[in-house]
Amino acid sequence: MTTQDRHWTTTDAGAPAPSDEHSLSVGTDGPLLLQDHYLIEQMANFNRERIPERQPHAKGGGAFGVFEVTRDVSAYTRAAMFQPGARTEAIARFSTVAGERGSPDTWRDPRGFALKFYTTEGNFDMVGNNTPVFFVRDPMKFQHFIRSQKRRADNNMRDNDMQWDFWTLSPESAHQVTWLMGDRGIPKTWRNMNGYSSHTYMWINAAGEKFWVKYHFKTDQGIDFLTQEEADQLAGSDGDYHQRDLHESIKAGNFPSWTLKMQIMPFEEAKTYRFNPFDLTKVWPHADYPLHEVGRLTLNRNVTDYHTEIEQLAFEPNNLVPGTGLSPDKMLLARGFSYSDAHRARLGVNYRQIPVNTPHVPVHSYTKDGAMRVQNASDPVYAPNSYGGPKADPTLTGGDGLWYADGEMVRTAYALREDDDDWGQAGTMVREVLDDAARERLVSNIVGHLLKAVSEPVLLRAFEYWRNVDKDLGDAVEAGVRAKQRA
Ligand code: NDP
Ligand code: HEM
Repeated sequence: MTTQDRHWTTTDAGAPAPSDEHSLSVGTDGPLLLQDHYLIEQMANFNRERIPERQPHAKGGGAFGVFEVTRDVSAYTRAAMFQPGARTEAIARFSTVAGERGSPDTWRDPRGFALKFYTTEGNFDMVGNNTPVFFVRDPMKFQHFIRSQKRRADNNMRDNDMQWDFWTLSPESAHQVTWLMGDRGIPKTWRNMNGYSSHTYMWINAAGEKFWVKYHFKTDQGIDFLTQEEADQLAGSDGDYHQRDLHESIKAGNFPSWTLKMQIMPFEEAKTYRFNPFDLTKVWPHADYPLHEVGRLTLNRNVTDYHTEIEQLAFEPNNLVPGTGLSPDKMLLARGFSYSDAHRARLGVNYRQIPVNTPHVPVHSYTKDGAMRVQNASDPVYAPNSYGGPKADPTLTGGDGLWYADGEMVRTAYALREDDDDWGQAGTMVREVLDDAARERLVSNIVGHLLKAVSEPVLLRAFEYWRNVDKDLGDAVEAGVRAKQRA
């Protein structure tokens, strides 16, 4: 009888395993033997089960799905996945930012909204969040920002003083922190939140015309949120609440979907728009750039192995296809390096050969060898060559996704335009988007957050920070904190 005939346990080499219960010993009570290869294999593999978690966004979950184009946007992009009738397989991963792999899903935090599309032109990734803006606008500050949200060096605890210290010394964070402290800072489920590229990207049509664009994946389930109290309770009773909700919905055939809508800015308009359209701390007002429907993403298949399909899933904002491109957003350009570097460190240099990361089209690159290489390379192994090896597409060399740049090398902020400031759009959200009840919850959430061990100097800066966003809001926050301190 072979191992294929019956459901025998095998060693990792496929041979029948001698026992699932007993190690090999000298006599019933005797010492163990080094020749018990199977016991050693069990212990050694177990000791290597964990791989490093993602630095930010460690806790998350996801599912497979499909993206279907519903409208004709070929005037703006020639990417095959956005052409009428296109249907593209995809995978999504949702996450919190600061928490570790076992942390509760319902902590107040932005949510990652990362998508990988297995297009006919290679992988296209949209590695966004559930908010359209971000805390900082220069990548030099990103690492410091994330450290301020994670754990202290001395007691290994998260620390609200550290968080507010960073935020109040970084006024460009105000728009995102307003968002975070509001209702959308704790979505009810992953199904009830939008996903945004946040960054500006480029689209290029068949005639070579360029457009600046922002991606908005709007939930078809409707926006919904948890109050701070509900979230606190769930953090204790069901740390995997969001992961469970997604898995069970899909298992029950209740497939969540999102409608992709784009904001589209003509290429030349970016030069004269009233604020820098590449500044990640700002949205483009809908009145200036309305949403254009493109298609629908539906998640319809749960993963079957979390480790191989989610933990080893590797997104990178530089996974672009013809007809799409980056923009001069400094954060986005830095992300182009950071993600593939993180994957090489976390998963190894051949991470794209892990099936979930492998494009659904043939790969003809000249990269070769390296740890855990499993796909065979073939000759010729260099270019140029006269032996029929692949050649780069000459139609892309001339400028797909490129733009003009010139100037002195400097270390400085973006040049300010007429409407560039750190507070204006946050104030608009507080005054014009939120209703009274949402504003009250915003104040209550901020007050609750500030009361957790924030020192007096940082508190004073926080009151000023909120007054800069909106005078009434700042006054209400200060009054709320002082009242609770007196109580
Ligand atoms: P609009 O009135 O056209 O849009 C307001 C937007 O705010 C809608 O997209 C709405 O999303 C969203 N929103 C509603 N409630 C909340 C909330 N509690 N927290 C966060 N977002 C919420 O205005 P403008 O485009 O002129 O933008 C005004 C302000 O709205 C901006 O300063 C920004 O803070 C915020 N905003 C703008 C977005 C944009 O891309 N222009 C996107 C999201 C927010 P929905 O329709 O999904 O309910
Ligand atoms: C994850 C870096 C800004 C969204 C990560 C990871 C790194 C990183 C190193 C872990 C990757 C991994 O190990 O798999 C950076 C840097 C940034 C930046 C250097 C700015 C300079 C942003 C912004 C967004 C974003 C602005 C959203 C618009 C995400 C998401 C993940 C992630 C969604 C998780 C991806 C997944 O599910 O695997 N980031 N990030 N990041 N980042 Fe960023």
